[in-house]
Amino acid sequence: MANVIGISGSLRSGSLNSALLRAAGELAPAGFAVDIASIADIPLYNGDLEEQQGIPPAVTVLKDRIAAADGVLFASPEYNNSIPGVLKNAIDWMSRPSSDIKRVFGDRPVGVIGASGGAGGTRLSQVAWLPVFRLLGMTFFSGKSVFVATGSQSIQDGRLVDEKLREVVRGYMTGFASFVERNRGGSR
Ligand code: FNR
Repeated sequence: MANVIGISGSLRSGSLNSALLRAAGELAPAGFAVDIASIADIPLYNGDLEEQQGIPPAVTVLKDRIAAADGVLFASPEYNNSIPGVLKNAIDWMSRPSSDIKRVFGDRPVGVIGASGGAGGTRLSQVAWLPVFRLLGMTFFSGKSVFVATGSQSIQDGRLVDEKLREVVRGYMTGFASFVERNRGGSR
């Protein structure tokens, strides 16, 4: 039995990426749970706020959920050929104080999937996440990939309806689950 925290990098109620993340949870193998967490309550990072009030409660809660999980699965949109600011902002807050990075992220298995309206299917965004995972010391799953291009056709009413893509997601989750199993605990 293993569990990962699933985080969508979009705040939109009709988000393709949130729908893809839900599909990933449904299509995961038995005994492997994707517990979906939200970044909606995380404020914009501001060093003055950190100095005056400390780490915001929504950030602390999410950090502790990640620290208690076996891994993290991100569903990340692509904005302007790169990562979305709201998700990067959440990561930036969660990397504070930097002395806590190892406890929260260090050696933790991480995967990223994504859906876009464009033809690239978040390829550039997924690549752009790699230096961030590396800085955090996370262990990246590169065995399979999920790029949902022209997502508005394959995702309807909040559900991944394209059968071929559902199989791709199922294959990804099977691979990711065994990767998490092999790497859980890491060197912590
Ligand atoms: C986009 N979109 C987009 N798509 C893409 O494939 N490559 C890109 O570089 C961009 N850039 C971009 C910038 C901004 C500011 C927005 C708002 C959108 C389109 C994007 O893929 C589409 O809006 C998705 O639906 C966003 O993901 P969610 O919100 O549906 O999860």
